[in-house]
Amino acid sequence: MIGFIGAGSIGGAVITGLVKNGFNADEIIVKGGSSNRTKLLCEQLGFQMVKKIKQLEDTDVIFIAVGASAIDGVLKELKEIASDKLVVAFTGSASVANLKKILGSVKVAHAIPNTPVKVGAGFTGITYSEDFTDEDKKKIGSILGYTGQLVEVPENQLGILGTVAGCSPAFLDVFIEALSDAGVKHGLDRKLAYEAAIGMAIGASKLAKQSELNVSALKDEVTSPGGSTIRGVAALEEYGFRNAVIKAVDAAED
Ligand SMILES: NC(=O)c1ccc[n+]([C@@H]2O[C@H](COP(=O)([O-])OP(=O)(O)OC[C@H]3O[C@@H](n4cnc5c(N)ncnc54)[C@H](OP(=O)(O)O)[C@@H]3O)[C@@H](O)[C@H]2O)c1
Repeated sequence: MIGFIGAGSIGGAVITGLVKNGFNADEIIVKGGSSNRTKLLCEQLGFQMVKKIKQLEDTDVIFIAVGASAIDGVLKELKEIASDKLVVAFTGSASVANLKKILGSVKVAHAIPNTPVKVGAGFTGITYSEDFTDEDKKKIGSILGYTGQLVEVPENQLGILGTVAGCSPAFLDVFIEALSDAGVKHGLDRKLAYEAAIGMAIGASKLAKQSELNVSALKDEVTSPGGSTIRGVAALEEYGFRNAVIKAVDAAED
């Protein structure tokens, strides 16, 4: 059995990704907040809902998906039942050291998922406390694996990884929207323009992942001398596209 404390944007996305990709909803117990968000999600997915953290006693792994203002209170309550469990916090401001400070000898991890976990195509960075064994890590991998890729990184890289993988779905949405606008400007129907831009983003990402070439070589392959694509690439550079992306990450990191 696994437990969740908090089922808002990211907790809800992870739970949805688990259930929609084959993890048994009967194996999930969720303690939500004071709104009816968890109840609504429960009606869709069919997991078990509880009112108190104490009722997560029968779980082996607990995921914490509450925000910074709620986490200390949650950890203090969780301490009473957590001694034999693996605890993974998604809370951005959490750290392995801070989790340990309250939970003591409990094995803890800090993870930053992104929203594509909801469709099983997520990218989650994770840092484990030193007492996590390979078997413990395998257990977390066997759960979060349902939601996409899981990559272990040192904690000092978790923040930037969270920005590159976690803020960028919104950046890509802006790119897709802009590309669709350009298609409409040149006469495409809006629906078809979105379909084309989204289909391209999925296909180009799949190709980039599966190809032995890096993305720069893939770009070289489709830019014939004097052709339309290299003229488009040059215009992207002229209008600062690359720098805009780097500045977007800088801004998110600030
Ligand atoms: N959103 C992302 O893409 C993302 C990605 C990675 C990490 N994170 C981190 O994850 C944390 C949560 O972010 P979020 O976007 O999911 O926020 P959110 O949508 O506000 O969700 C937080 C949830 O926690 C619930 N909650 C609050 N106190 C609780 C308690 N004592 N017991 C049980 N549930 C409680 C709230 O319930 P009610 O709604 O009922 O009040 C709310 O649904 C943040 O620290 C954020 O940095 C977010």
